[in-house]
Parts: sequence; structure tokens; C-alpha cells
Amino acid sequence: MGTEWPPAPAQPRKAAVSGRVALKVLLFVFLVGLALRLLVGPSVYLFPPTASPEAAAALVTTAPGREVNAGGGTPRIENCNLFHGEWVPHSAGPAYTNASCRFIESPQNCVTNGRPDTSYLYWKWKPYGCDIPPFDSKIFLDGMQDKHWALIGDSILCNHVQSLLCLLSKVEVPIEVYHDKTFKSRRWHFPSHNFTVSLVWAPFLVKAEVFEDENGVSSSETQLHLDVLEPNWISQWESFDYVVISTGQWFFKTAIYLENEIVIGCHSCQNKNLTETTFEYSFRKSLREVFQFITTSPHKPVVFYRTWTPSHFENGEWSSGGTCNRTVPFKPGKTGDREQDNTMWRVEIEEFNKAAGNKEHNNADHLKLLDTFELSLLRPDGHPGPYRTYHPYEKGRTAKIQNDCLHWCLPGPIDAWNDIIMQMLAKN
Ligand SMILES: *[C@@H]1O[C@H](CO)[C@@H](O)[C@H](O)[C@H]1NC(C)=O
Ligand SMILES: *[C@@H]1O[C@H](CO)[C@@H](O)[C@H](O)[C@H]1NC(C)=O
Ligand SMILES: *[C@@H]1O[C@H](CO)[C@@H](O)[C@H](O)[C@H]1NC(C)=O
Ligand SMILES: *[C@@H]1O[C@H](CO)[C@@H](O)[C@H](O)[C@H]1NC(C)=O
Repeated sequence: MGTEWPPAPAQPRKAAVSGRVALKVLLFVFLVGLALRLLVGPSVYLFPPTASPEAAAALVTTAPGREVNAGGGTPRIENCNLFHGEWVPHSAGPAYTNASCRFIESPQNCVTNGRPDTSYLYWKWKPYGCDIPPFDSKIFLDGMQDKHWALIGDSILCNHVQSLLCLLSKVEVPIEVYHDKTFKSRRWHFPSHNFTVSLVWAPFLVKAEVFEDENGVSSSETQLHLDVLEPNWISQWESFDYVVISTGQWFFKTAIYLENEIVIGCHSCQNKNLTETTFEYSFRKSLREVFQFITTSPHKPVVFYRTWTPSHFENGEWSSGGTCNRTVPFKPGKTGDREQDNTMWRVEIEEFNKAAGNKEHNNADHLKLLDTFELSLLRPDGHPGPYRTYHPYEKGRTAKIQNDCLHWCLPGPIDAWNDIIMQMLAKN
């Protein structure tokens, strides 16, 4: 890519020119949107029609001068792939801070926890050929009147919901109305918008019996029912209007796999006379079950399937002293060999395409791919590392500190996930 790769501050845009172009684009988008609405009727709109002038204004705008597409012409908005691009310097910084948002939980609160470098906060995800405007909390909340949004999955979804709450609380501060015993499943309500956000704990999405304490130490292998969905989310399915769903790293764990209530194999079980079965197999089988349910259920919320989030441990793993002390993003194409991550992502794409391509079942295109894999992979600098706890080096530099190179600092790279969701909603 010919562009420079600066950890240097962002260059100010040529505001006047880009402003004029943006205005034209907005007008165009708005007119096209209007025409489409007249043609197809309001039901295709994810935002209600009343929100559309602003929603149109919040749409993807083409960025002058940065296009990288082969044809060289101005890329069309509808052709812009929101998931393929690079991180560019962004001097304006994040949409919220450790001081302005009280929904950042301690393990993700890198700034408060004393992470010394801050340059990781000054990047913006820039798809090739278009710009993503920042998340607009007011438009989002106005469009979500009386709606119920669910984030279903593992602790990365918890990470994601904190980002969403931080963004939304700039307009209205939600009230927590439910949590389970362990605070893994939770629910918030925004009274003046009657908008509900649920975080639903279902780390495998399929039914799992986990024998693990708070610190992730297992007393026995996890038992995974590859053909039974986790009741925690399907029991609430009918109440959801929008869903972000994902699964991930838990599939790497040692587990006994069951189908039809019969043990069919095991992944990395020692001293057990069981067929070794790959996590790719269990992942694929589980995803199939999930997509089957989503596409055949008569209840059709808008579903964003969020793709794989990589971890960035170097020189070891979670449990063996691995760290992640990089301070700038990777350049595109320089992520190194990420074979396992790529394998899991490919499984997801294959299974998603099969499910979404089945027009008989996915008849209203309610299933959408939130393909955050590439943009996440490029951010080894966005994890808490040792700063998952408050001032970890207080007891001296030599203290042995476990690093978190899987979850994400907030504010941080995954705030872009919400910016993208906003665009996907507006685009429709
Ligand atoms: C935010 O982080 C800064 C820097 O670590 C710290 O001084 C400040 O107390 C933090 N604010 C809150 C509200 O945690
Ligand atoms: C609030 O939204 C829920 C759906 O999420 C709906 O069932 C309920 O009637 C709404 N309440 C009011 C007061 O409109
Ligand atoms: C392991 O399983 C095989 C096939 O089920 C059986 O023939 C064999 O006896 C078992 N070995 C042990 C040590 O249990
Ligand atoms: C980053 O961590 C590695 C060990 O994983 C260490 O060798 C290196 O010195 C660290 N770099 C910085 C800047 O702390």
C-alpha cells in the first residue's frame, strides 16, 4: 500500500473540499434512500422512516483522495466493503474516556489502570474507498424506541456491550434492570427511549456443562452438546428485535463432545479412551446448529453474526507468560501467520454463507455478517496486556503479571464495531 504508515499525528483533512463532496454524497444518498423507500416501502428500513434524514446524513460518505480500488473512479457507497481497510491516525481520539463513561469495567479500563502509552487511542478504522462517520448515539436511540437489543456470546460480547453503553450514555444513561448471580447475563433499560439492551451469556452458543471456577481452572472437562442450543438465549429469542451473536475462543478448550446425548469424541483429553476430535469440527457443527435455528425460526430479528476475534499473545500464551506490548497497529498484510485464527474465521464464513445464501430460509436477509475479523486482527496494541488490573506494577516491575491479550481496552479498537453496526443499520 503506497500510503505512509505513521505513528505520527493525523494530517488535518482538506476540510472545505471534503465538506463539499460529502454534502453532494449525502444529498445523493438521501435521494436514493427516498426513492428506495417509495419503491419498497418502509418495512425494509431498519431505522423507522422518521429517522431517515438524519440516518441518511449518518451514512457512509466517500472520502476523497484515499481510494485504493483498482478502477480508480469514485467508489460507490453500496460497493464499499466496511470490513476491508486499514487503521489510520485519528487525532480527535475516542468518543468517550475513562472519565466520561462509568460503564467501563475494571479489566478493560486500561487508562485508569495506568497503561502508560496512549497512542493506541488515536486510530480510526478506514475502509478502502469510504469513511465511516462516528457512531451517533442520538440517531441510534431515536431509531430504537421500544426495541430490544441482545448481545449473545462470551466475554468479548461483554466487552462490546460496555462500548455500546459508553456511546449511548452520552445521550441517555441506562439503568441496569437485571443481572444473574455471576453478572454474566445482564440487562439495561433506557427509560426515555424504552430501549432495552441484554447481554446474554452463552459462550459456546450450544449447550455446555462447564466445570470451572472463577479463575478458569477446570475440575473436569467441559461437556459440549453440539446439537443442542444453549437455552439461555433461545428461551428469550422471541423478545429480541436486534441481535449481535458470536462465539470464539472457548472452542479451543479441552472438551468432550456429545451429539444426540452420546459422546462422539474429545478435544485434547488426556488419559481418556476417546476419539480425538478437532475444535474445527465442534465449531462448525455448533455454528450450523445456530444458523439453522436463526434462519428457520419464525421470529426474525435482525441478526449480526460477528466474526472471530483473535488474541495477540506473543512469546507465550495466556497461561505461559504471553504478552502483547505493541503500541501501534499492524500494517495491512503484516499480521504474521495467524493460522488458527484464519482457520476459525474461514469456518465461520463458510457456514454463514451457506445459511445466508439459503434464500428460502433467510428470505428477508435478516442475517447479516459483521465481519470484524480483519480490523481486529490488525490491532495487537488494543489489548489490556498487564493493565487488566489496577496499577499492576505497583509492587515492582518484577512481579509476575498475567497479561490479557484477548479482550480489548475501552475506549479502544472495538468501538469501531459499533460505528460499523450504525452504518449497516443506516445502509438498509
Ligand atoms: C482516568 O485515567 C486517569 C489516568 O490514569 C486517572 O488519573 C483518572 O483518575 C481516571 N478517571 C477515572 C474517573 O477513573
Ligand atoms: C416498551 O417496549 C417493549 C418492547 O421492548 C414493549 O413491549 C412495551 O410495551 C413498551 N412500553 C411502552 C410503555 O411503550
Ligand atoms: C478403548 O476403546 C476401544 C474401543 O472402544 C476398546 O477396544 C479398548 O479396550 C479401550 N481401551 C481401554 C484402555 O479402555
Ligand atoms: C515486550 O515484551 C517482550 C517479551 O514478551 C520483551 O522482550 C520486550 O522487551 C517488551 N517490550 C517492551 C517495549 O516492553
